[in-house]
Amino acid sequence: MAQSGHVPVLYEETIHALRLESGKTIVDGTMGGGGHSRGILERISPGGKLIGIDKDTAAIRRCRQGLKEFESQILFVHDDFKNIREILAANGIGKIDGAVLDLGVSSYQLNEGERGFSYQQDAALDMRMNQESALSAKTVVNEYPQNELTRILREYGEERWAARIAKFIAEARAQKEIETTEELTQIIKNAIPAAARREGPHPAKRTFQAIRIEVNGELAGLGQALEDYVQALTSGGRLAVITFHSLEDRIVKQTFKKLFDPCECPKDFPVCVCGKASQVKLVTRKPIIPGEEELGNNPRARSAKLRIVEKR
Ligand SMILES: C[S@@+](CC[C@H](N)C(=O)[O-])C[C@H]1O[C@@H](n2cnc3c(N)ncnc32)[C@H](O)[C@@H]1O
Repeated sequence: MAQSGHVPVLYEETIHALRLESGKTIVDGTMGGGGHSRGILERISPGGKLIGIDKDTAAIRRCRQGLKEFESQILFVHDDFKNIREILAANGIGKIDGAVLDLGVSSYQLNEGERGFSYQQDAALDMRMNQESALSAKTVVNEYPQNELTRILREYGEERWAARIAKFIAEARAQKEIETTEELTQIIKNAIPAAARREGPHPAKRTFQAIRIEVNGELAGLGQALEDYVQALTSGGRLAVITFHSLEDRIVKQTFKKLFDPCECPKDFPVCVCGKASQVKLVTRKPIIPGEEELGNNPRARSAKLRIVEKR
């Protein structure tokens, strides 16, 4: 699984969870650096098929290059993984045997300073995973109403200084358009009281996460998408999802719980009358998290959680 730029998170656990065999049809909805894809391809060959999706054209280009030896087995799709129903229909694919979604940003996206994802590298405010999308961080920061910014920072960043940061952004942009990650980072630092800035992670971390989630619509439609993946699975097929923050993990957990136990009957009914049958088995009741060794080798794995369901 040699990967230079992006070390796949919870690699062994994810590959193991998918119970891969030659000839299987698997979706990697978040190809990124192609680490998980490579592991899948090595195990479904010969004869298997990988539908490799990413909304970042650079990721698709990189995987085309890096996975050349498996070229004939991969269907590359530049799209949002949430469009899985349309992607499968457009390519005449009925059921799939498994799928993996490794959410969030890749190390490539973070390390390529000019993409504007990182508060540690100065660049134009961008943060778009899909370079063809219209909404960028510059628009969010300069054009969203102050109260909307407060909501986003509070909801998506769980930032306790959301209102103050939004106020400082509004004041700064009234003077001059905010154009770079460094300008934004400085505004955030000015907004957070010095004592609070000394504790915890980098002061810009939560705000950058919140804006990135908004720019890329990361949470919108995620629950429905997970249901669509389960719908597309063959009986016994598995869906493995890796998340990196509590908001995403909550959606995954709640959606899996609903698919496991969709019954809407009042708790005191002796038998179910709503007729909603369980669609999945919960392979993981508690999420799998990285062990000490992985954390030592890959700090990016710190907040990762893997949840797996199996279609009945
Ligand atoms: C954490 S990385 C995946 C890394 C990959 N598993 C590997 O082993 O290299 C996440 C990737 O998913 C892509 N991505 C995130 N959300 C997406 C979405 N809704 N649709 C398609 N791709 C998405 C990002 O562009 C990024 O390349």
